[in-house]
Amino acid sequence: NPRRTPLIAGNWKMNLDHLQAIAFVQKLAWNLKDAKHDFSAVEVAVFPPFTDLRSVQTLVSADKLPLAYGAQDLSAQDSGAYTGEISGGFLSQLECQYVLIGHSERRTLHGEDDEQVAAKVKAALKHNLVPIICVGETAADLELHGPSAVPVAQLKAALSGVSNAADIVVAYEPVWAIGSGQAATPEQAEQVAAQLRNVLKDTLGEDVAARTRILYGGSVKGVNIAGYMREPNLDGALVGGASLDIDEFSSIVRFQK
Ligand code: G3P
Repeated sequence: NPRRTPLIAGNWKMNLDHLQAIAFVQKLAWNLKDAKHDFSAVEVAVFPPFTDLRSVQTLVSADKLPLAYGAQDLSAQDSGAYTGEISGGFLSQLECQYVLIGHSERRTLHGEDDEQVAAKVKAALKHNLVPIICVGETAADLELHGPSAVPVAQLKAALSGVSNAADIVVAYEPVWAIGSGQAATPEQAEQVAAQLRNVLKDTLGEDVAARTRILYGGSVKGVNIAGYMREPNLDGALVGGASLDIDEFSSIVRFQK
């Protein structure tokens, strides 16, 4: 779709400390520059741990690297007595462009529910961060409700009370495909993405729906990225494991349809 620039996003999860992050980001940028990657044609973003963000900002701004970056989570609150939390304001100060919200690991390991996800989406928008809203069904959900019911319900809930969100991203990550090596087929991912775009149409209107990028996540690699990118409703990928290997991640970024 000409209106949507593909986005390849690397979610590092709890990997790479700030020293490793500096080396990694430098090498990744060189690698892509060497390969003459056109960053205006395919946007690249990394999601390091919080403690790396200041280092990544320094590097990206000093070397004017064409890389976007963001955090893996944020607090729904702005400031105050919330031990251990990080506010959206802090992230904007670090020139983060994006923030992941509602990743399945946050939902399952930290008990984040739809209400918290919705509050975080509002906090991100308030602080001028583009939320990457993560949705996806477990294997049990898939068996019980089919492929799109849970992701559709999660996206509706995440957007409840949001009326003007000009810039958001949705990531469809089936939980059964995350880190399992068992990626969804492009057809499966497209089927859900089409439903998610309908939700965007109903909640935010045609125009925003047409502009919003929907990513697929779950065992994406260099060898399977092209299949997703050929689907009309998929506009990129949220990559976990493979985003930690510079060559593998670069080959995903340089996908050929
Ligand atoms: O957020 C990305 C992620 O959950 C997918 O992980 O390792 O299956 O690419 P992976």
